[in-house]
Amino acid sequence: MYSAGTLRIDELTAEERAVYATLKPGCLPEHVAIIMDGNGRWAGNRSLKRFLGHQQGANSVQLVTETASRIGLPWLTLYAFSLENNLRRPRAEVNFLMRLLKTYLESNLQRMMDNNVRMRYIGRIHELPPEVQEKMRWAEQATARNTGTTLTLALNYGGRSELVDAFRSLAVEMKQKHISPERISEEDIHRHLYTAHMPDPDLLIRTSGEMRISNYLLWQIAYTEIFVTERYWPDFRGLHLLEAIADFQRRERRYGGLGEDCGEVEEDESRIKIAAS
Ligand code: FPP
Repeated sequence: MYSAGTLRIDELTAEERAVYATLKPGCLPEHVAIIMDGNGRWAGNRSLKRFLGHQQGANSVQLVTETASRIGLPWLTLYAFSLENNLRRPRAEVNFLMRLLKTYLESNLQRMMDNNVRMRYIGRIHELPPEVQEKMRWAEQATARNTGTTLTLALNYGGRSELVDAFRSLAVEMKQKHISPERISEEDIHRHLYTAHMPDPDLLIRTSGEMRISNYLLWQIAYTEIFVTERYWPDFRGLHLLEAIADFQRRERRYGGLGEDCGEVEEDESRIKIAAS
């Protein structure tokens, strides 16, 4: 199932290695998406300003990405800035988040290269400040040839607006190619999403305990397993990503059918055959 990069398990911390050792290699998720929540509360609990929570949150982004790259996770998609954040947060906070993103890209590019991480973005990127877009393009181009984890940042992103954008571009295609509405398939809609190039998430993690989807990847999470932790995003580390994956592996994914196995039974049967022969 895994195709991204080489495993660098020796670079995990001892605690991470202990959790990783409990995972079933044939059942690792291909795509993990995360709603990073709780930066403000993390700061508030320490009588700090909200922006310090975001700054610590950016640190978590890097640490979690590096663990993901060490275990060869092909796709990691982080909800960094929603359309609603852009419209409803005070301008000063939005401006701070934009500056933080720019600084984050500048100061972490080398670490992305060292970890073989490729950077991509989804969302209405063209509405972000031009200097931020420029820095984003710079980081995307610099990491384009990396073959490990693809880190996708959802920026100025909303699930409903993604669907609106997809339907608009599908409508244009239909008109150009004279396609009738009855011929539209799920695959056609998928092709017009921002995420057309990636598989749907297997696992969605939300930090800070809220039981909401918050307009994230609405189409893509139809069969995604959801893991909610009380931990605030600035306290979330690679170890917690691995614990979420361990929890994911205890679920039975059925996709409306009768469930799937991930090679375990087959492996066990072959061991029985070997033992019996
Ligand atoms: C939610 O915390 C988080 C955000 C609004 C943005 C996420 C941003 C980061 C993790 C930092 C920047 C990221 C990068 C890639 C540089 P909240 O403010 O809603 O927390 P609260 O619900 O406790 O108030």
